[in-house]
Amino acid sequence: MKKILFVCLGNICRSPMAEFIMRDLVKQLGVEEQVECASAATSTQEIIYDLGNPMYPAAQAELKRRGIAFTEKRAALLTRADYDSYDYIICMEQRNLRDAKRIFGGDPDRKLKLLLSYAETPAADLDIADPWYTGDFVSCANQITAGCEGLLSALGKEGVRAIAGGNLAC
Ligand code: 4NP
Repeated sequence: MKKILFVCLGNICRSPMAEFIMRDLVKQLGVEEQVECASAATSTQEIIYDLGNPMYPAAQAELKRRGIAFTEKRAALLTRADYDSYDYIICMEQRNLRDAKRIFGGDPDRKLKLLLSYAETPAADLDIADPWYTGDFVSCANQITAGCEGLLSALGKEGVRAIAGGNLAC
């Protein structure tokens, strides 16, 4: 079992989209028993009195438009304990990477990565622009999908059965 935690600033746009896009790809490959996904925020901006806000409506709409299933998901804060609980901690932009490192007190096992570092043709700065500010949920979902496909292929090389030889129907 490989455990992946996707991380962004608010956990209402990019990282929950990544969580559900990855779950969809994992389901297409039939390797749900081998890959587990979750997501978390580096800030409390979308968490009020311990209750996180749901995924942003435009993020939900973009997943729906693509036929990607999602469940109720509320923003949750990244914690120090997450470092030991996950094998991969995948950030949407450099800022998340820096903030996560601060929350964890370092990255001794080199678990922290940028999602776009796995994409075949990544953007120059490896940052996925925040659609909360840009309003561009389509490009965001495209970049997330490219990163998740690359990450799955990297997992295949690490020996997750069926991924290495798998055929993604997308
Ligand atoms: P996310 O986007 O990090 O992709 O979830 C954001 C959502 C909310 C805020 C910032 C970024 N905010 O400041 O509330």
